[in-house]
Amino acid sequence: MPATYDTLLRRLQAGFDRLSPGADPVLRPSDRTDYQANGVMGLAKTIGRPPREVAEELLGQLDLADLAEVEIAGPGFLNITLTPAFLARQLNDLVADARLGIAAAEAPRTVLIDYSAPNVAKEMHVGHLRSTVIGDALARTNRFLGNRVIARNHVGDWGTPFGMLIEHLIDLGEDAAVQTLSMGDLDTFYRAARTKFDADEHFKERSRARVVLLQGGDDETRRLWRLLVSQSIAYFQEVYEKLDVLLTPEDVVGESFYNPMLDDVVTDLAAAGILEESDGAQVVFLPGFSNRDGEPLPLIVQKSDEGFGYAATDLAAVRDRVSVLGAHEILYVVGAPQAQHFDMVWAAARAAGWLPDSVRIEHVAFGNVLGPDRKMFKTRSGTTVKLVGLIDEATERALAQLNARESDMSDEERQRLALDLARAALKYADLSTERQKDYVFDIDRMIAFEGDTGPYLAYAHARIRSIFRRLGETYVAHEVNWSLGDSAARQLALGLLAFPEALEVMTKTLQPHRLCTYLFDLAQRFTSFYEACPVLSAEGDLRDERLALCDLSARTLSLGLSLLGINAPERM
Ligand code: ARG
Repeated sequence: MPATYDTLLRRLQAGFDRLSPGADPVLRPSDRTDYQANGVMGLAKTIGRPPREVAEELLGQLDLADLAEVEIAGPGFLNITLTPAFLARQLNDLVADARLGIAAAEAPRTVLIDYSAPNVAKEMHVGHLRSTVIGDALARTNRFLGNRVIARNHVGDWGTPFGMLIEHLIDLGEDAAVQTLSMGDLDTFYRAARTKFDADEHFKERSRARVVLLQGGDDETRRLWRLLVSQSIAYFQEVYEKLDVLLTPEDVVGESFYNPMLDDVVTDLAAAGILEESDGAQVVFLPGFSNRDGEPLPLIVQKSDEGFGYAATDLAAVRDRVSVLGAHEILYVVGAPQAQHFDMVWAAARAAGWLPDSVRIEHVAFGNVLGPDRKMFKTRSGTTVKLVGLIDEATERALAQLNARESDMSDEERQRLALDLARAALKYADLSTERQKDYVFDIDRMIAFEGDTGPYLAYAHARIRSIFRRLGETYVAHEVNWSLGDSAARQLALGLLAFPEALEVMTKTLQPHRLCTYLFDLAQRFTSFYEACPVLSAEGDLRDERLALCDLSARTLSLGLSLLGINAPERM
């Protein structure tokens, strides 16, 4: 079914085009009327005529009568009120549509999402939590829209630290090392290796020699490296499952995957004539990038010791993602501090001819997670906060809240519900803030059943479902004779019809908080409706209409939350 917004826009656009082809009607939902088109002022300016006059002319030309009543307001705003017949038609379409008005892409795109990307033998930190949760929401949404999603977990599994990590593993003994790593005690392991490396000259020598063996492909060294990698990946997988994130071990395509491609990267860059030698290293200078002193900033492709670094790997990754995987979109869900790194890598990739303009490439940057003191979120002793610990803590809080309430739920049901609510709390708190901004990690606020929180929305959904349990018969969605006489009912209906726009805005801006805001607003519209309009005690068409609004609201909340990676339980 064509979405309400799109239908209106298409008609308006035809009118605007007649006066000035391509002029944007600037159509927005409005509090005062149903929609408002604010594009007349811009149009009037373009064609050099008074806005009021242009609005009058448009009004005479617009072919909108079957959809809406249009009135001119103020200097030339168009106030648009949908006709009851159009509204009824749209709502009946919605009732019958399992996708709630969201069309599946006619030409599916290949969307590659680079997210999570923790580092082997290092604890995942809250930054990785953000990347994981935002990336998961983008992956779910794109899949629902019918796109082909390729998830890439660009795990840090290569580099000089692996010399010391392998030597430390040998010192500990494989069994003991595996024990530590499988418990997810990655920080202890990493720090112990680092401490020895800094204090012990002999250990440092061994580590350096080990890096050479690793790079040279020595069998035993490779085996030990793989052990480290596989233990860490198994641990990350536990975290993903605990969070209910869709990443799998198959999505792990770590930095080391690109090793065999790095020589070609160098050859290509040299052939493109952009590779230069600087202090013994192979670098690319890109226009527009300079350091603090205004000197040109090099992108280091190969270091003077011939080793490759983070940039080389990312160059190879762009090349592979476009030419081999055929990505139409590449989204990097990575912290904001890496913005310059990506800008430089992409500029180099463009200069080398690997990255055509037709590919949408974006840094889905995000801000920091802060502690209550508004400093970086750390444990009291200054170490990385374990993600599993956060989920466990949130689950306990949720369980305590559930236990404080009267209910006939079994202990097992309560446990399961508490985990759902904990995930909802953590994910929603992360997704509902504008992603570039920092946010304060406040578990009490996140887990609260009231306010703009995940548990509140889950609760709003479960409350609607409970209406249907009280109905006493299975509800089958069906066409309704809509009257929408009550303004709260009408507002709710308009909210339901706006779901496709919310999703479109989210994928366009790559801002999951836009969908969160929509869902929270919808839940509030539902509350106002439910306060004003009794459902089960109503009769006839009115009861039908109200039940349909309830059903659509629950379905929209459930689908919307699921696209954010949040499960909305049937009962709470
Ligand atoms: N492992 C990196 C980190 O922890 C993130 C990698 C992001 N992805 C990429 N293609 N560079 O900071």
